[in-house]
Amino acid sequence: MPVVKHKKIDVLFSAEAIAKRNAELALDVAARGYSNLLVVSILKGSFIFAADLIRAMHVAGVEPDVEFITVSSYGAGTESGAVRLLRDIDSDVKGRDVLIIDDILESGKTLKFTRDLMLERGASRVALAVLLDKSMRRKTDLEADFVGFPCPDQFVVGYGMDVGHAFRQLPFVGVVSGDA
Ligand code: IMP
Ligand code: MG
Repeated sequence: MPVVKHKKIDVLFSAEAIAKRNAELALDVAARGYSNLLVVSILKGSFIFAADLIRAMHVAGVEPDVEFITVSSYGAGTESGAVRLLRDIDSDVKGRDVLIIDDILESGKTLKFTRDLMLERGASRVALAVLLDKSMRRKTDLEADFVGFPCPDQFVVGYGMDVGHAFRQLPFVGVVSGDA
């Protein structure tokens, strides 16, 4: 079992499993035939997933532009509250197909806020790609178009996801299971 920062981490999704799934997701994205595609990666949690998925998309023949948006949904705790836009994209999305990438779809508030923002600005189609889906936590009617894996109802870290900005560097997704 990996030990990081003196904590034992249970691996849920290995680096190999994620890489294999990313290649499949990229083929699914390619099959949709998006035109003038703009990828919008939601910071900070999706930065590694987005980096890997867009490279898999390149292999699958997709040629997106790439932007980043920073939205914050968590207040002090770990329950998703009001969503705020902290840093916007620079591109005009009017008439474009947009693929929003996030790490986890939980209540759906983060992705609903971001999707609605792109639609209000005149995007033609807005699709959603997430690495993990905690469907048992949903509080909106939102579903993602592309899902890496269904996720158990546990707080996960790694592959971009953090607790207090730690553990983002892990190449796998895991759960902190206790002191090492
Ligand atoms: P939602 O707005 O409730 O769908 O929350 C989604 C956001 O919450 C994601 O972008 C994540 O950043 C964060 N999040 C939800 N569950 C976890 C977790 O288990 N680990 C780390 N971040 C999480
Ligand atoms: Mg996030």
